[in-house]
Amino acid sequence: MLSYTLNVNGKDHVVEVRSAEMPLLWVLRDLIGLTGTKYGCGIEVCGACTVWVDGEPKKSCDMDVSSAAGRRITTIEGLSPDRSHPAQVAWIKHQVPQCGFCQSGVLMRVAGAMRAGHHGSEIAGEIENVCVCGTYQRMKRALADL
Ligand code: FES
Ligand code: FES
Repeated sequence: MLSYTLNVNGKDHVVEVRSAEMPLLWVLRDLIGLTGTKYGCGIEVCGACTVWVDGEPKKSCDMDVSSAAGRRITTIEGLSPDRSHPAQVAWIKHQVPQCGFCQSGVLMRVAGAMRAGHHGSEIAGEIENVCVCGTYQRMKRALADL
């Protein structure tokens, strides 16, 4: 077994894995128990697995645990303690989610764009996340608040 220390949402976690290539997504969900980050496609397309790595949005299905060690990882559970991040407030106000499966990845992508100083329709043009429920119009309305 290999051992790595991951800093997730400000807390260090020591994880033991069989392979240095285990995706960060598996580690977050199965070993650390943070299941807010979702598995959609597994091939870097849908964005359901988006987290922040050192403050930048990153698809966690596409990152080895060995590459994540020593970096600052933020998941949807760490975005705010009480759903008070402005993107979460806008998402709740406009009732964006339908099934909700894609939405943690969307929110981490949106909040990441906000961190970079982007706003509203500018962010809308950057979001490539797939929502099978087709909530794109509600996303646009929520983004107009940001
Ligand atoms: S599960 Fe990672 S991009 Fe789809
Ligand atoms: S809300 Fe269902 S996949 Fe996006």
